[in-house]
Amino acid sequence: MLRTVVVVGMLLLGVGAVLAQQEIAVQQDNLMRGQAKSLYDVMLKMVKGDIPYNQAAVDNAIKELEESVPKIATLFATNPKQQVVNATYGSSQKIWQNKADFDSKIPPVVKAIADDKASLRVAYNSINDRCSDCHETYRLKLK
Ligand code: HEC
Repeated sequence: MLRTVVVVGMLLLGVGAVLAQQEIAVQQDNLMRGQAKSLYDVMLKMVKGDIPYNQAAVDNAIKELEESVPKIATLFATNPKQQVVNATYGSSQKIWQNKADFDSKIPPVVKAIADDKASLRVAYNSINDRCSDCHETYRLKLK
């Protein structure tokens, strides 16, 4: 009986750990999706003319990126050792083998967001190129 309780307890602990790790992976994914909203759903759509130009929306998107991008280093400090269930993109294990290099990809994005831009298109391209500099090495396409 006691042995059964111990075994069940250990199984529950195991499930808890897996859930916690999934939660971390989801938080990391959500941070990225938030940045994608600002850059792709607002700025890129305006560049392409899919939605009308709106300076207040651009300012807000830039402000959200300014707040969100510096959080990448801390949020990715923990390796969840699993991908978000059913995700299209995932984290490469290289992130945690080379965290300092991963983190070094963040300041260029922050700088690209802060730099004065002549036009929305230039702003979009220069920010997006820096996002991609990290994705090329550290983001996996899962499907
Ligand atoms: C320091 C590295 C790094 C930087 C900088 C970075 N990303 Fe990511 N991004 C990742 C990693 C790792 C993943 C895969 C894990 C995930 O999805 O959370 C990812 C995933 C994504 C995804 C896919 C989300 C999904 O699952 O559908 C989008 C979209 C994205 N990033 C947008 C951005 C945008 C926009 C920027 C720039 C403003 C940016 N990222 C900057 C590392 C980075």
